[in-house]
Amino acid sequence: MSEVTRRIGLSLGADICWPICFEELVRRLDLKVPLDGDTVRVEVDRVTIEPYDLRAPRHYDVVLDRLTHWYHTSREWIKKVVLMDDTYVLNNPWSLQSMEKHTSYCAMMRLGLPVPDTWMVPPKEYEKSADLQPTLERYARLFDLGEVGEQLGYPMFMKPYDGGAWVGVSRIDNEEALKAAYEQSGKRVMHLQRSVEGFDLFVRAIGIGPQIRFVKYDPGAPLHERYRVDRDVMGEDEQRTLRRIALTINGFFGWDFNSCEALRQDGTFHLIDFANACPDSQVTSLHYHFPWLVLSKVRWALFCAVHRRPFRKNLNWAPYFEIADSDRSFDEKLEAYAAIAEEKYETERFEEFCATHLARLPEVADEFFASDTCRDAVRQKVAALFPAHEHDEFTGLFFDRIQKWRQEEGA
Ligand SMILES: Nc1ncnc2c1ncn2[C@@H]1O[C@H](COP(=O)(O)OP(=O)(O)O)[C@@H](O)[C@H]1O
Ligand SMILES: [Mg+2]
Repeated sequence: MSEVTRRIGLSLGADICWPICFEELVRRLDLKVPLDGDTVRVEVDRVTIEPYDLRAPRHYDVVLDRLTHWYHTSREWIKKVVLMDDTYVLNNPWSLQSMEKHTSYCAMMRLGLPVPDTWMVPPKEYEKSADLQPTLERYARLFDLGEVGEQLGYPMFMKPYDGGAWVGVSRIDNEEALKAAYEQSGKRVMHLQRSVEGFDLFVRAIGIGPQIRFVKYDPGAPLHERYRVDRDVMGEDEQRTLRRIALTINGFFGWDFNSCEALRQDGTFHLIDFANACPDSQVTSLHYHFPWLVLSKVRWALFCAVHRRPFRKNLNWAPYFEIADSDRSFDEKLEAYAAIAEEKYETERFEEFCATHLARLPEVADEFFASDTCRDAVRQKVAALFPAHEHDEFTGLFFDRIQKWRQEEGA
């Protein structure tokens, strides 16, 4: 019986708090999993940015990545380790690169999910290029934005087709405001989307592998209060539906980590933003929910590392479209889409892994999240974002929310 080591790499940018907690939890857990006659242990370190040989040997079994969506050296390194080394990566770098909000809208409309009516409009301005003039002269049809607005209906939202972080998003109530917003939009390619009005609940469904958590969200609150702490916001049926929706999206795009924004109006969840494959992970926004997020990452990364979970080689959308084109009811379709995802994420095997090999984790977490090390991780993140005179106040606030989580949901 020999000891083998699995390596988890954290590919990080400005992240401060969750990696410290992740590393410390894995270290304290000190995992020793008996597997095929060996004892499997797990080590975590941070991926560095440097020149690399495309044929360099495998180093990591699993990489948790936070850079792919904007830092290209790391994105291309991740493609290398998936293709050359069979490394498992959160998230799929190709689908992250190519699946913008627009793709996600089209795909989920195709599957029959409730996405508000959405139009795309050509941009107001262009980057000059040799072929631009002839292309536009020949093919760009003059259009009346007012007519598009009329067809879609007000109020609506104008937002970039590939957007994120609320950049370039505006709410529009009439034709005049629409034209003004379009004037301002410059070179960005924009969507116009019918507003979901009078919703009584805004939820973010955060998914890590098969683990989905619903968090009530208040977009009008200050940053540290947007994720609400109230838990009993949905009935069991609604939770089941939303879990299925989130799994359908994540499974379809091959994302192991994503956040899906849904607005409940008359009992239906309308999906407005669900291509968030590098969602907020900071204690300064997640506070009460932060331990769940870190623990979910720990559980899923350990499961993938220990079992050397194979990375999906393709997304294979055909089974989803077959279901979409069948004459089943929407609920039956959703159940069938989600079943594909549950199978892909190996939900049952994962749960068994947690029950068997991570049985100590709740206890380890309870101790860790009360520790000075945890408090210091919170402080470091606060220090990076808040002015000096607020460090004590906000460190206290976020740490207290973590203690509330320990009391209500911890060991
Ligand atoms: N169709 C819509 N109906 C109601 N509110 C919307 C709609 N689209 C966007 N919003 C509001 O605008 C915010 C930002 O839009 P979103 O699509 O989430 O963009 P981003 O990707 O930049 O987060 C949302 O959190 C929501 O508050
Ligand atoms: Mg959003």
